[in-house]
Amino acid sequence: MAVVNKFQKLSRSILGIASSYSKYKNDTLLPLLLATRGTSTTPTRSEKEEVNITFVKSSGERIKTKGKVGDTILDIVVNNEIDLDGFGACEGTLTCSTCHVIFSKEVYEKLPGKPTDEELDMLDLAYEVTDTSRLGCQIVMTKELDGIEVKVPSTLNDQRA
Ligand code: FES
Repeated sequence: MAVVNKFQKLSRSILGIASSYSKYKNDTLLPLLLATRGTSTTPTRSEKEEVNITFVKSSGERIKTKGKVGDTILDIVVNNEIDLDGFGACEGTLTCSTCHVIFSKEVYEKLPGKPTDEELDMLDLAYEVTDTSRLGCQIVMTKELDGIEVKVPSTLNDQRA
């Protein structure tokens, strides 16, 4: 009987805490969230700055397009339906190397972040790799990269095939 009483007491305590939290959440947090919603200064995705990028195919064809700061190069190819056969086959999961792109040395040194071991392992399996090669799905566009040119190798190697 003592155990049952203790259980009932514990249950009432838990219910009381849940009820208090719910009241707190509804009375305090929700109005606060609603009030701040309209005054956010964080740009939404659609308000982010545009960046220009030119893809240069091995044939010499140049494809100029736009993306947003925060997009990966793979995002830009997909969002703009750029015709690069087989590009980005694994959708950015670092398992194909079909998003291999080559930068000029100057641009390569401006890229944010160094390649991870996983990216380097996948690059080892790509064709036509150079010292300034990276995987496009791992390159996030910044304002500093606005206007860059990206060379697309003539051959893609899909490691999953
Ligand atoms: S899209 Fe497959 S490794 Fe980048």
